[in-house]
Amino acid sequence: MGRLDNKVAIITGAASGMGEATAKAFAQEGAKVIVADINMEGAERVVKEISSAGGTAVAQFVDIGEPEKIEEMVLRAKDEFGKLDILHNNAARLDFQNDVDVAGMDIFEWDETMRYNLRSVMLGSKYAIPLMIESGGGSIINTSSMGGLVGEMGKTAYAAAKAGIIALTKATAIQYGKQNIRCNAIAPGMVLNETIVENAPESLKKLIDIYIEHKATPRIGNPMDIAYLALYLASDESEYITGQVINADGGILAHNPTVVDVKKANLNW
Ligand SMILES: NC(=O)c1ccc[n+]([C@@H]2O[C@H](COP(=O)([O-])OP(=O)(O)OC[C@H]3O[C@@H](n4cnc5c(N)ncnc54)[C@H](O)[C@@H]3O)[C@@H](O)[C@H]2O)c1
Repeated sequence: MGRLDNKVAIITGAASGMGEATAKAFAQEGAKVIVADINMEGAERVVKEISSAGGTAVAQFVDIGEPEKIEEMVLRAKDEFGKLDILHNNAARLDFQNDVDVAGMDIFEWDETMRYNLRSVMLGSKYAIPLMIESGGGSIINTSSMGGLVGEMGKTAYAAAKAGIIALTKATAIQYGKQNIRCNAIAPGMVLNETIVENAPESLKKLIDIYIEHKATPRIGNPMDIAYLALYLASDESEYITGQVINADGGILAHNPTVVDVKKANLNW
């Protein structure tokens, strides 16, 4: 018995990173998975790997900036598998170059970030909810970010969109809970796969070290850390959990910001 037997799931951004790990984990637990991405070559590769491991998956093109493509993606679940139980709004865009501080913010960059990172999540849910109601209920999992919970020096639009996802998650949970639809958000904090870590340039290595110093755990996150949480939120095991934001960040936001400096100063406080 798989934890997601007889369930149909859509995962956006499933051609790499956390989306790929989650698609594979869902399929391994018995879900029929729609691997949705703008990168069809990557999506086809993931589908092939899932099929080789004995799972069921299909690749679906989606550009999360385009409402009609999002709608097509949701309808694919009905056409291909007859229903929809799980939607994981995972894909996002991040432009470090143009998404800067508030005074320097480019209006086009702000609007594009809202379109791709916040409107897309609303649209995915908007199209999925009627189909989930028809299917007897469902679980929507939105990917927020640690960046949506605390202030940073840049990535202002990204952070605002990820914070918006939290409000959207709660609204969705409240509005459709009685129809058996749950909605939760995952807030990851620095998640990188092994290849990226191994080949990291000096500046990223330094950043990883800073993050590790501030985490409660001895390492940064990997995509499976998020996939396991998404799996729990997708399954009936989390039937009583909705409207929540769960940080998967090695405890970085659990600590008093002075902890590292206090440790360095060898103060016994
Ligand atoms: N990696 C981190 O440290 C981190 C931290 C916090 C939050 N997040 C969030 O987690 C999610 C997944 O991040 P990741 O690091 O696994 O990303 P990733 O870059 O590894 O994968 C993103 C996937 O989304 C796809 N994609 C990009 N634009 C798209 C579009 N317009 N339409 C459809 N698909 C598109 C890409 O092709 C890719 O397959 C994102 O929402 C991201 O903001 C990541």
